[in-house]
Amino acid sequence: AIRFSSAEAAAVSQGEPQVPGGVAPAKGKTDSETDSGKKTFNEILAERQEQAQRTVLINCPPNFNAKAFLKYLSRHGNVQNHFFYKSKAMYAVIEFSERESITSLQEVITIPELKDEYPVPFKSRVLTLMLKKQSDLVSEHTPVQCHRQTSIPVEKLVKKLCDADSVSDQLYLLTKECQLTEENIKLRFLACSLIQDIASTYFPDCIVKPFGSSVNTFGKLGCDLDMFLELNKIGKNTIRKKTSPFNIIYQMKKAPSERIAAQRILNVIGEFLDNFGPGCEGVQKILNARCPLVRFSHQPSGLQCDLTLNNRIALKSSELLYVYGCLDSRVRALAFSIRYWAWTHGLTSSIPGAWITNFSLTMMVLFFLQQRQPPIVPTLDQLKKLADAEDKEIIEGFDCTFVSNLNKITPTSNTETLDVLLRDFFEFYGNFAFNKNSLNIRKGKEQNKPEASALHIQNPFEESLNISKNVNAAQLQRFVSLARDGAWILQQVEKHPSDSSKPWGLAALLQASDTGNVSKGFKRLSMLNSDRVKDLLNSLKM
Ligand code: GTP
Ligand code: MG
Repeated sequence: AIRFSSAEAAAVSQGEPQVPGGVAPAKGKTDSETDSGKKTFNEILAERQEQAQRTVLINCPPNFNAKAFLKYLSRHGNVQNHFFYKSKAMYAVIEFSERESITSLQEVITIPELKDEYPVPFKSRVLTLMLKKQSDLVSEHTPVQCHRQTSIPVEKLVKKLCDADSVSDQLYLLTKECQLTEENIKLRFLACSLIQDIASTYFPDCIVKPFGSSVNTFGKLGCDLDMFLELNKIGKNTIRKKTSPFNIIYQMKKAPSERIAAQRILNVIGEFLDNFGPGCEGVQKILNARCPLVRFSHQPSGLQCDLTLNNRIALKSSELLYVYGCLDSRVRALAFSIRYWAWTHGLTSSIPGAWITNFSLTMMVLFFLQQRQPPIVPTLDQLKKLADAEDKEIIEGFDCTFVSNLNKITPTSNTETLDVLLRDFFEFYGNFAFNKNSLNIRKGKEQNKPEASALHIQNPFEESLNISKNVNAAQLQRFVSLARDGAWILQQVEKHPSDSSKPWGLAALLQASDTGNVSKGFKRLSMLNSDRVKDLLNSLKM
């Protein structure tokens, strides 16, 4: 806990300014928005990881004097960025310019005194601010501004969409309203950095990296945080002189397989999170999954986290989606809206099961965009041709090479509007020969299905694998009939109707099952529920 009174803050403000610049405004540069177009995925990741390491998370009492507190904190160093948000309580994210400021702050932080319990003395960067005097509370006239960390409710969104001018504008509006904010992305990197501190107690050089929707530009506010613990680089010393007469190797405990080693490591880290991790609740160790993981809720950030090990191919897949998402504003708006549409209809779910994953769905959007004339996005083979020597990357024997420099990719000359693209997406998949064909984004072509799964989407890197092997025939059928309904609904509107009080365009799509526009909507809704219950039961059995 940090104990603080406004008198101390006043003392700080009256004395010599200890750090030039003092408290920086909360709205610093919105780095991802302004610069990221030119930066590579890895540069952005590295920059955000570094920012996160000089950040602390502080639980604050309501109605406290934020201005005075920020001044007090600047005694320990320049606060480069800060913002407030509410999860269960109010929190402040404080980003110092220098990491040393946290060391300086730690000198005044004390261990809590509890009456009936005993604190586990693991010191992290998750802190609590305690007020020394009640007078440090401020009047209600200057409330702290909190940044929203959750999506707006669907009904509210539908109302907003009705006021847009075209379906195309609706897609952009939906993306703007529901995408991850700068603050939310910072919070995600901070959560990874806090877990990294924990894992570092066992593996001092480890890195915890986010992947999936937190970084692929398709994430919606409230989505889970996928993260992985990178240990592979540890100990791989590249400077091994051939001329040296000796080799020295580490003595290490051995496991029968890499999988078993991963299970043991995640088991121990899961125990640590459960017993000592501040704010880590509901820890589940799902070690028998195809990709063993630890799932937990990180209460201070309000994020549901999945921690895996050495998942470098997954990070590479996220980078691939990132590259595609940055190529053309239509890509992100279309994929984001389709993902949202699928979510509102229960086609996707955060519970593992026979439903389509967001990863597969995004691949379907990309494949569709590759089929346009001229194509809106290049094939993966074309991205590979543009790669330079530094982009070469072989992970676990799979060639994951593709261009990282976005400036090297020529923009498409295709000028189709999103109105057309959304409607044609639904038509395309409403009539796709899923029984015969597989989607291949590496070649940008459909191919004969090599196996009997209902939906076959070739894994972009591990080419013999199907990323949608989990999808069963019933779930695919639901997708197809909802896609047909979507095409039908969109054929009804050419532009903003004169009476926009009734949901139209994308707004109607999000409500399709309840409007009565759609044949058998009700029947499908009950099928949806029974299917999901069945699938859930099956996945529990497994
Ligand atoms: P949400 O978590 O649903 O919001 O979306 P997401 O974009 O994070 O997708 P998801 O959680 O389904 O997948 C996260 C990441 O895991 C993806 O970006 C991929 O990198 C990876 N991934 C997901 N499914 C597969 C799969 O079947 N095979 C492989 N190799 N990687 C996968
Ligand atoms: Mg995810």
